[in-house]
Amino acid sequence: MDEKRAKEEIDRLKKEINRHNYLYYVLDSPAITDAEYDRLMRRLEELENQFPRLVTPDSPTQRVGAKPLEAFGTVTHTIPMLSLKNAFTGQETTEFDARIKKYLKMGEEIEYAAEPKMDGLAVELVYEDGIFARGSTRGDGYVGEDVTQNLRTVRSIPLRLTPGRAEKKSIPRHLEVRGEVFLPLEAFRKLNREKEAKGEAIFANPRNAAAGSLRQLDPKVTASRPLDIFCYGLGSAEGAGFKTHYESLEFLSSIGLKVNPFVKVVKGIDRVLEYHREIEKKREELDYELDGVVVKVNDLALQERLGVRTREPRWALAFKFAPKQESTTVKDIIVGVGRTGALTPVALLEPISVGGVTIERATLHNQDEVDRKDVRIGDTVVVQRAGDVIPEIAYVIKEKRPPGRELKRFRMPDKCPECGSIVEREGALHFCMGGLLCPAQLKESIRHFASKRAMDIEGLGAMHVDQFVDSGLLKDVADIYYLNKDKLLGQERWAEKSAENLIKAIEASKRRTLERIIYALGIRGVGEHMARLLSKEFGSIEALMDTGEEDLVKVHEIGPETARSIVDFFKERHNLQVMEKLKKAGVVFPSEARKAKGRLAGKVFLFTGSLKTFTRDEAKDLVEAEGGEAAAAISKKIDYVVAGEEPGSKYDKARELGLKIIDEDEFRRMAGR
Ligand code: IVH
Repeated sequence: MDEKRAKEEIDRLKKEINRHNYLYYVLDSPAITDAEYDRLMRRLEELENQFPRLVTPDSPTQRVGAKPLEAFGTVTHTIPMLSLKNAFTGQETTEFDARIKKYLKMGEEIEYAAEPKMDGLAVELVYEDGIFARGSTRGDGYVGEDVTQNLRTVRSIPLRLTPGRAEKKSIPRHLEVRGEVFLPLEAFRKLNREKEAKGEAIFANPRNAAAGSLRQLDPKVTASRPLDIFCYGLGSAEGAGFKTHYESLEFLSSIGLKVNPFVKVVKGIDRVLEYHREIEKKREELDYELDGVVVKVNDLALQERLGVRTREPRWALAFKFAPKQESTTVKDIIVGVGRTGALTPVALLEPISVGGVTIERATLHNQDEVDRKDVRIGDTVVVQRAGDVIPEIAYVIKEKRPPGRELKRFRMPDKCPECGSIVEREGALHFCMGGLLCPAQLKESIRHFASKRAMDIEGLGAMHVDQFVDSGLLKDVADIYYLNKDKLLGQERWAEKSAENLIKAIEASKRRTLERIIYALGIRGVGEHMARLLSKEFGSIEALMDTGEEDLVKVHEIGPETARSIVDFFKERHNLQVMEKLKKAGVVFPSEARKAKGRLAGKVFLFTGSLKTFTRDEAKDLVEAEGGEAAAAISKKIDYVVAGEEPGSKYDKARELGLKIIDEDEFRRMAGR
């Protein structure tokens, strides 16, 4: 076959496959069998393999295949992605309507677009000339993360829009579409079942699962989760010229994007309240989570007049659903022990189904919380789930307490239920003082050490940690690095292949960044952010260990409690032994260039023009290695402008601002080179 004929067939196949994608994933009404679909895909792959030049980014074969990223880039939204004001009652919703009428000085009823509020995460899709070009998360509303390659794997997001379906309007050359990405409930439950089986931490709710899936650096992982989307609005869409919001949604739908089928135009706020009741009922039958309805003034000219107040538009409102509640009884209150030794009271409940999920336990957080809610064993309580798997007790129905018989109040034990060590109270929390001699703390701290965001030891899930601690294989985190194939094969349910994989993953974890190691150690009060700060500030584990409380608190963001907990951690003999053991096993504690102490400490440099003895990057690296900062743009906070040959406009700007300008030789002297 020649290239011309191949191209014709490829184009035909792409069109055909895209149409079936649309029918299947957007309209949910497939027209062919899976086998027929696979045949079309295989034929396309075959031709593309034969003529690689004919592969285009919008080809259905190109959804997955991008390489894993190191990190996500950022995207600045051309128009900020706003949030919504919340209402929890009909009363508040009626007040919203009254405010609008007053603001617009309108007597007649307002026309609203009423929409389901999907509980997922907001994204923006950018189409250039009808081709999916970029996708990002909402982030803080102004800047989000570039998750383009992950969004490409979402089947209901067309890689190419279909103008054929647009009636009169043509597609703007640059089109920004906003929507909610979510994980259907069935897929969410399946994913959690799989995670549980692997001994991994489960997702608390479908929203977290969707966010976790979309924020994967490896698009293959995202592709394995059947994410879906509903589009609910526009960002920048020049020349679109819609009169109403509803019209814009109809347009999105007509060009192949997925819009929620329950969107409706209603007149007057009473109809909105009615809609809210309808959708709240419908919610039970849906395969995705809703957490309310969104009400939007339909007329775009009126929206314009109403404008935005701080970060919320005056023309829209989220009328949330009441959390799902049921009543049941408390069978017992038990106490769990976490990684830091914190004791958590947990209510064991008579199993009850709340919104389709069976609930058997609810966390009570701490003694104060138990006292505040006055929960006692034998009580009848109302439990609620706000879309979350981890439920809570809303309140006790005191009228149901048996008359004449006092139910016992819950008291924290004075001995650790896991190891019998003494328990001490610190602030709101009680702690077991047994440290890592306490098996519960040991298990939790090993789980934390191996977790994804710490040392990231794939395959060492919660169940395996339990198994290895119970069988005495792991007595501290360092023992992980002394596992070998023989030891693993001596354990129940371990086979050649799985043992090999785990050993490989353990080996790979020996070289993690300093901040991950600091985080992995599990020092109380040191989360990811603090670990990053400590790593930047002190540069090496030795420097951190040598620093006393008074110097730690001098660092911005480190409070006295965290400082004490860090110093205490490194004073503990057992911790020092574990660190020695880690080093001996070959775990690298890398050093970072110490920022605060270099020759250029605290100074900000800007380079302009070409340098003779450095490239730009080398010069910047040198500045940073010596504790300084290299700025990208001119500003008053710059201490030195280094002018090379033929300096650009930054040079003139620097003179205007009266900044200190030096040449390359002087810069080199300052940096000690
Ligand atoms: S409109 C200015 N419509 O709710 C209006 N948002 O709390 C911006 N959401 O960030 C949003 N369904 O993630 C809109 N039908 C819908 C929605 C919806 C879910 C989410 C969205 C947004 C959040 C606002």
